Amino acid sequence: MKPSRNFAFAAALTCSAGLTFAQSGDPLAFHSNRKATENTLTFLDGKTVKYRAYENLYYVANVVDSAYQYLNVYVPESAWATTSKAPMFLRTYVGGYFSSKAQAPSNTDASGRALREGYVLVIPGARGWNAKVTKNGSTVFPGKAPAGIVDLKAAVRYLRHNDAAMPGDAERIVTDGTSAGGAMSALLGATGNHPAYEPYLTALGAAKARDDVFAAVAFCPIIDLEHADLAYEWLYGGTNSGPRNLSSAQAAVSNELAALFPAYQASLGLKTPDGTPLTADNYRDYLKSFLVKSAQAARNAGFDIPANTGVKLNSGFRGSPGEFVLDVDLDAYLAYLVGKTPLKAPPAFDKLGVLGPDATPENQVFGDETGKAANYTEFSLRKATGDASATVDKALRDRVFRMNPMNFIGDPRATTTKNWYIRHGAADRDTGFQIPVNLYTKLVNQGYAVDFALPWNRGHSGDYNLDEVFAWIGDVLKTPKK
Ligand code: DHB
Repeated sequence: MKPSRNFAFAAALTCSAGLTFAQSGDPLAFHSNRKATENTLTFLDGKTVKYRAYENLYYVANVVDSAYQYLNVYVPESAWATTSKAPMFLRTYVGGYFSSKAQAPSNTDASGRALREGYVLVIPGARGWNAKVTKNGSTVFPGKAPAGIVDLKAAVRYLRHNDAAMPGDAERIVTDGTSAGGAMSALLGATGNHPAYEPYLTALGAAKARDDVFAAVAFCPIIDLEHADLAYEWLYGGTNSGPRNLSSAQAAVSNELAALFPAYQASLGLKTPDGTPLTADNYRDYLKSFLVKSAQAARNAGFDIPANTGVKLNSGFRGSPGEFVLDVDLDAYLAYLVGKTPLKAPPAFDKLGVLGPDATPENQVFGDETGKAANYTEFSLRKATGDASATVDKALRDRVFRMNPMNFIGDPRATTTKNWYIRHGAADRDTGFQIPVNLYTKLVNQGYAVDFALPWNRGHSGDYNLDEVFAWIGDVLKTPKK
């Protein structure tokens, strides 16, 4: 820490009425006369949007990794006035829990589309597991969990801190990300202002401002990492000796993990929409209800649904108009998926040292500053060490806790957004369907409005169906959920 910088930062915060003002000497000030670069984004249909780019805005006073801890802001011509109250669209490019750079708008994803809609686009970088810096002559990895979500929260705080000086309305930030980035978007949506992140944000010299957001868009969020292994094996276990073709050692691990799922599911205390407790006993039927809706939407849109998907159509005349989906044979459907994209081998997430030396992105992100990967569940730690009473240490458990939005939904200390759009492809096997379905169910049980679907035949991807996403954003901006 450089004392002079800290002093300047502290001076910027001692304003009246508890408000924070960006002023000279404030390392986090966005000066409204800051020079912008002007540029034009051309879309595939020939439409163009002129925008101003403000890049490399460091969002913490105590930068740890200068490659990532800044954000870029892109302002479409319609929002150039400093007083513009255009909504802000915060797109994170976190994937695989890697570090992600602040980058420029793309004409093929939600970032460009946000500009086209007249929103102020914000692309923050964030540290991930592979972030690497030299400190006192040695290499350290400062991006281990929860660094990624902490950085993104600091970015949100920067936008609020500078709300008066910047075009766009920091009270209307919509976040978006895919996969590990979907997890980040869900965390931003779930954990607003929660004190659990405060020590990290304080250490970074983040702006003293709120970090809740207006709405969260999450594509295939890879969350609940500490229970994802159980869910995966419980769901797909039926394919172990069929299309998944596991060895007997793998099948044994799969069975042990699957056996732990019912207690976990019961511990969540979730309910289906009709108030029935959601347990392992009725979970397959509950999941089928989403798949039936998904297949029906695809049929309505004219897509053929092959018989080997296990989808039962009413007419017996496949391809006839007005067909409706009666049922899905879940075992046939899961076997069909495994045939399309091979599954992850057990354990799917906390894999390190259990049946081989491979470390997953999750083992990496829960590793330590020296770069060493780590087990973060008791199950895998015990297998990997051979110590049947080994436990995950408290410091790591606390880090794992902060990476799971499930832990913050319903916690009165969190300001959770009421506006949610969540998608997980019906052909996405990167995590078990229970993970996004439980997220949806927990939010709905807590009274939040969630637009949720498992889109038919979609694999592990995001930012698709942008017309639908932006129609939803337009709706919630007009009529925010209370
Ligand atoms: C991502 C995918 C995974 O399968 C995973 O375990 C973690 C992250 C991703 O695409 O970001």
